[in-house]
Amino acid sequence: MNTDKKMNVEQPKGKMGVLVVGMNGAVSTTFIAGTLAVRKGLNTPVGSLTQMGTIRIGNRSENNFPKIKDFVPLTQLNDIVFGGWDIRDENTYESILYAKVLDTRDLEGVEDELKQIKPMKAVFDSYYVKRLHSDWKKEGNTKYDLMMQLREDIRKFKAENQLDRLVTVWCGSTEIFIPEAEVHQSLAAFEKGMKENHKDIAPSMLYAYASVAEGVPYINGAPNLSVDMPAIWELAATNNVPLCGKDFKTGQTMIKTVLSPMIKTRMLGLDGWYSTNILGNRDGEVLDDPESFKTKEESKLSVIDSILQPELYPELYGDYDHKVRINYYKPRGDNKEGWDNIDIFGWMGYKMQLKVNFLCRDSILAAPLVLDLVLFMDLAKRAGFKGIQSWLSFYFKSPMHAKNVVPEHDLFIQSIKLKNTLREIMSEKPIDFLDEKIELFR
Ligand SMILES: NC(=O)c1ccc[n+]([C@@H]2O[C@H](COP(=O)([O-])OP(=O)(O)OC[C@H]3O[C@@H](n4cnc5c(N)ncnc54)[C@H](O)[C@@H]3O)[C@@H](O)[C@H]2O)c1
Repeated sequence: MNTDKKMNVEQPKGKMGVLVVGMNGAVSTTFIAGTLAVRKGLNTPVGSLTQMGTIRIGNRSENNFPKIKDFVPLTQLNDIVFGGWDIRDENTYESILYAKVLDTRDLEGVEDELKQIKPMKAVFDSYYVKRLHSDWKKEGNTKYDLMMQLREDIRKFKAENQLDRLVTVWCGSTEIFIPEAEVHQSLAAFEKGMKENHKDIAPSMLYAYASVAEGVPYINGAPNLSVDMPAIWELAATNNVPLCGKDFKTGQTMIKTVLSPMIKTRMLGLDGWYSTNILGNRDGEVLDDPESFKTKEESKLSVIDSILQPELYPELYGDYDHKVRINYYKPRGDNKEGWDNIDIFGWMGYKMQLKVNFLCRDSILAAPLVLDLVLFMDLAKRAGFKGIQSWLSFYFKSPMHAKNVVPEHDLFIQSIKLKNTLREIMSEKPIDFLDEKIELFR
């Protein structure tokens, strides 16, 4: 750790609670089991930037590349306590067996701990997730009552586990598409809406409000509107709470945000991009409902346009066709297969094609992102950051952004932005890649 320079962040102390919404799902349980295994030295945190990544300090020739976790003061994995909510009254071990992502062999050594982790009752309404039903949920006359029960849960969890601080992460299902409406525009309208059971206030928004009201950073891993609205931004500004989202960038969209900058940087043209997926886990089943799919589709579609900037390059990107499909196909379980067919054109308009077939594992890709986000959001809070954390865009399909800011989708620019923010926190110079002075070229 850098000790000579001023650190613009408080050191972590004591234990940190991680409240996972949808904690019995495939992503959540894979994240929890993996973190427990890593901290016991039983596995390696592959895919996690906080645990494995390095950061360059100074010029390349200085050859100074500390590990990120040695450079910034992150919470130690041993200091994490897991809790959360779900609509299914099962312990984490039982849910892992249901999800079939992990082999029981890989749970040896953490099985007992996994059996101790159980969800609190959820706030849930199947109007917002049509394919799911449950009795393991809270009762209340209004959405405001339900939200207050969540606040009570947060306080109790913190006190019972003697925690210094908390982070909340939504790994729950994708809800139906709810466009931003009047009720989301101000805190006053939102609070009134909760008391009047406004239908545009979904359960995910109640978790978000409760968390931010308790001063707890909130990560939104699904495309739900959730914390992406002025009402919650207002609350976050007052309570000094960092927010980030939406929708973990794991598979096909990650590839899109690598390939589209390549096409653009070489000034190649695009006629069309057809993306399709087969997926057989519960997330796939939920997304089989057209209303939940609509929320996901919006999140997946925006990416290419924002990178290619068709308004600046009408001859190259003015008229391309972009389609995204997700098909629920049970035999595949969590092992999603994504296909991309990309029709491009080059010099003198000659046509070419790129085909990508990604045989991935959804939750294996998502779990390390959850770990990184939890640790970075805790760091953000200790650094005094509040509101939208655009430096964490790296992790999201549709990064949250202020109304007057254009989101950055290019994976490598996002990575530079993230690392430069870490440098800033530690009072190190941001990196501009101009190792040699411009004068040398003259
Ligand atoms: N795996 C990925 O690569 C990936 C990428 C981007 C986004 N996501 C999103 O992450 C989320 C989780 O994915 P998953 O594969 O783990 O899905 P999953 O269906 O296995 O898990 C979702 C969990 O949320 C619970 N849940 C639903 N509504 C709830 C509520 N109101 N309160 C508490 N719990 C609730 C469900 O019971 C379930 O256990 C989904 O929204 C998915 O779209 C996943």
